[in-house]
Amino acid sequence: MKDSYINVPVAPRPQDAHRTESIKLYGPDAFEGMRRAGALTARCLDGVSDLVREGTALSEINAFVLDFAADHDATPATLGYKGYQYACCTSVNHVVCHGFPNEKKLRDGDIVNVDVTLIHNGWYGDSSRMYVAGKLKRTAERLIQIAHEAMMQGIRTVRPGARLGDIGHAIQTYAHSKRCSVVRDFCGHGIGQVFHDSPNILNFGRAGTGPELREGMIFTVEPMINLGRADVKMLADDWTAVTRDKSLSAQFEHSVGVTSDGVEIFTLSPLGLHAPGIEL
Ligand code: MF3
Ligand code: CO
Ligand code: CO
Repeated sequence: MKDSYINVPVAPRPQDAHRTESIKLYGPDAFEGMRRAGALTARCLDGVSDLVREGTALSEINAFVLDFAADHDATPATLGYKGYQYACCTSVNHVVCHGFPNEKKLRDGDIVNVDVTLIHNGWYGDSSRMYVAGKLKRTAERLIQIAHEAMMQGIRTVRPGARLGDIGHAIQTYAHSKRCSVVRDFCGHGIGQVFHDSPNILNFGRAGTGPELREGMIFTVEPMINLGRADVKMLADDWTAVTRDKSLSAQFEHSVGVTSDGVEIFTLSPLGLHAPGIEL
């Protein structure tokens, strides 16, 4: 942890300035830009694996992401975003998303989502994964596998001609089949040279509804899945979202692009560290 990272307010910077209402279509250069930014984010998340254990302070993860970005010609997109002061989000146990990487230390059995967005050559790679400190408990392992598979089922619907609603429908159907709930207060988003662009990628919905997916669209798929009820509440810091019933929550996120015949995932782990409990 570098002292200079503590209590130095980050200046807000202009955000999402090029957000549009229409869904942008991107060409090969954009896909190459996303491939590089996505790979960098994925390598950063691979590096986080070595860090997460019992006793790790969340601020150490933040410091690692800051250093990784500085060493790889990248900028963490969350720094200063709408006043957010950290290089990543760290959401532990019943925290659903946007947890602060503060001085809190991980304890044995904690699960944590680390969400990193690196801007590299103007392109945004946005991805998150679950990690475990110490011994992974059975219920947590089950939730993590369900959340990962829910995201993958959503991603697998993506191809030209499919509808936006197909993604959320697949996520919701899978999660419910495992008696888990889907958080409705947050969604995926268009991405590219803008952090949060249209369209919203809802994690629930009806198959065959919504805009048609077309080659060249780029967005995130990032469902949040709870063991208990779907309801969330915001803490007084106005960022941290937690499950109302204190049940465990898990999330995964990939940045993806629609190709001529399917989908390309830009943020796959180079080391195959997809999710704890998933054998390589
Ligand atoms: N990375 C998050 C996402 O997936 C956004 C975090 S915004 C922050 O969209 F300000 F909370 F960091
Ligand atoms: Co995102
Ligand atoms: Co993210």
